[in-house]
Amino acid sequence: MTRLYIGLIGAIALAGAALQPSLSRAQSNNDISYNAAMRIFRIDAAGTTYAFGINNVDELQPVYWGPQLATNDHFPATHEKPEAAAFDASVTTTPNEYAGWGGGLYVEPALKVTFPDGNRDLVLHYVSHQIHQNDLVITTKDIERSFYVELHYSVDPHTGIIGRSAVITNGTQAPVIIEQAAAASWSLPRGDDYSLRYLTGRWAGEWGLQKQTIRPGETVLQSKRGSTGHQNNPWFAIERGEHADEDTGEVWFGALAWSGSWRITVEQDQLQQIRVTGGFNPFDFGYKLLPGQHLETPVFYGGFSKDGIGGASRLLHRFELTKIVPNAPNPRPRPVIYNSWEATGFNVDEPGQEALAEKAASIGVERFIMDDGWFGQRKDDHAGLGDWYVNQQKFPHGLKPLIDKVHALGMDFGLWVEPEMVNPNSDLYRKHPDWVLNFTGRPRTEQRNQLVLNLARTDVREYVYGFLDNLLSHNQIAFLKWDYNRNWSEPGWPAVAPDEQKAVYVKYVRNLYSILQELHTKYPNVEIESCSGGGGRVDLGILGLTDEVWPSDNTDPFDRLRIQDGFTYAYSPGVMMAWVTDSPNWVNHRTTSLTYRFLSSMQGSLGVGANLNQWTSTDFATAKAMVEAYKRVRETVQHGSLYRLVSPRDGSEVSVTESVSLNRQQGVLFAFLHSSQMGYPFPRVYLRGLDPGKDYRISSISGSVASDSPEVASGSYWMNHGLDIDLRGDFQAAAFRFDETNTNTHP
Ligand code: DGJ
Repeated sequence: MTRLYIGLIGAIALAGAALQPSLSRAQSNNDISYNAAMRIFRIDAAGTTYAFGINNVDELQPVYWGPQLATNDHFPATHEKPEAAAFDASVTTTPNEYAGWGGGLYVEPALKVTFPDGNRDLVLHYVSHQIHQNDLVITTKDIERSFYVELHYSVDPHTGIIGRSAVITNGTQAPVIIEQAAAASWSLPRGDDYSLRYLTGRWAGEWGLQKQTIRPGETVLQSKRGSTGHQNNPWFAIERGEHADEDTGEVWFGALAWSGSWRITVEQDQLQQIRVTGGFNPFDFGYKLLPGQHLETPVFYGGFSKDGIGGASRLLHRFELTKIVPNAPNPRPRPVIYNSWEATGFNVDEPGQEALAEKAASIGVERFIMDDGWFGQRKDDHAGLGDWYVNQQKFPHGLKPLIDKVHALGMDFGLWVEPEMVNPNSDLYRKHPDWVLNFTGRPRTEQRNQLVLNLARTDVREYVYGFLDNLLSHNQIAFLKWDYNRNWSEPGWPAVAPDEQKAVYVKYVRNLYSILQELHTKYPNVEIESCSGGGGRVDLGILGLTDEVWPSDNTDPFDRLRIQDGFTYAYSPGVMMAWVTDSPNWVNHRTTSLTYRFLSSMQGSLGVGANLNQWTSTDFATAKAMVEAYKRVRETVQHGSLYRLVSPRDGSEVSVTESVSLNRQQGVLFAFLHSSQMGYPFPRVYLRGLDPGKDYRISSISGSVASDSPEVASGSYWMNHGLDIDLRGDFQAAAFRFDETNTNTHP
């Protein structure tokens, strides 16, 4: 009976997984094993071992997570920990892979439910497991009720990153309310010398890297906003001890693949056990599960690096590019783009866009993107969202003449959309005022004069998919910039029963994912950018379905150094769009040279967003040379290994990054000087990641090195002797390429 049922819920889970950003699949057979005598599961991959056991009371108990152990190392069988005091029963002192709230548990539970008879006690015991290549599925069940949780583990053999999620199935005869559901709890080795890093920010000021000592208690990282949010990003890294640089030390890290309200808690309990639990945000959560129904959590990815936080981010970048993004494992390089937003605002029209397209093509731009303003009665942000037909005054002949022109200039064409929003001043809202998130009879709080469509509704989902399908099938569009310019308020769903309304937190995001998936299937060559007023929706969930993200509306090239630095702790430069815009910049009114702006943007995926109508012939010549130089290094910058050599944080006067191609044949160095002081020279730069035994020729992308610097030297020389860069002044920048010379003179 039990076996049959497990098979059934396994099948349901697989069907559900089609709409999920996928758990990674791996090739080798040997990464997950089970020792039946000791009842120990062990996952070994890429220098990491993760192990847990089925203990004497049939609970899943973490054993080890860290550097890879020898294959003949055997873990002893697990036993529940004793009661520590009358106040801490065994259930709370024993680490648990996925704890139901029940039996006197005081530490963070993974799952909390209410049964209709008022019972809120849930104790999950191991029932069975299956290993398929690099996927492990363990079925657990409540000690008394037909309430099942499948725990899914999947390991990437190349990075050792493990994806964990849970499928919760109600096998009882009555509805159950899920009040809190995590994807996973990660347990670190017991200790008290850990520090936590996480990312915080706000609109136009995202990606601030925070560091704090982990102390007894709980730190909560979260979004209650309906989407990922600018304020916190669902990523963490935990480092043991203090280290001289960011490429040494042990680091445990993780990222949650979810674009709705989320929560990650980082806890040091009363016995110095460190636990990180993440999944749906329990705030205002209440998912009703009818008999036979299941709820699948997002995937919470976790990994370990012995090469410091630098190594952790390189593992994550590799994982994102080879396992997460839509064209993984071979993501297409990001084209050099032009975007009209900062040049024109909402004032787009056919002649204006065509003039910009001509100028963009002349500097080597590969994709021309028309931003906001082309549709409905859109003159500013007060009207038009929801009315996705071409504005006749601005484009009397539709989009075709502009798109043809862009193609004739040798570029492909991209278009801005904001599918999930509506202005009250729109035909759509006048026709369907009930389509927005709202509580009956309550105010509908506008932000940027717009409301959020309730994408959880089937009719809204069909409308949104329908207009996008129509746009893409009638126009040769290669790219959509998918914007999302506010967070939720009054998140009601009056069309369904009161006890079903809170499912909006899950169903909205699932429908968003399903639209993106369906578009990707039907239009596999169309690429999509996730933008949310800058970096408000960047996470591994949306990245599974979009090709790039917009990290921030702040395009000031100096601010961007910090923004981009923070971004790369969690996400790859290969998805990080960075535009060269006008100077003085609108954010800080800071004046910088065009070269400085280019070099700042060339650290990621290069775009241009300046008003080209105001450029001089010298500007065009500079831009053309920079775009050409970028194309020669973009594979390395976008898909290589990133080393953050000198941080721009904490008021640093300098910052330096280096990218090394995966075959180590090319290195690319970017150096920035905020302001010279006391005439000190630029600090010597020690490269990393090159092959010490190969020779590399240095060539300048911009700027010069000390006059006695060699043109060709070994990787060892560049890494150990270092490089002196000739940079002085304010807001100065330089960049260099290191190309292997093919002469293997240093065995
Ligand atoms: C916010 C985006 O981040 C900007 O780049 C631009 O597309 C505007 N929205 C358009 O309204």
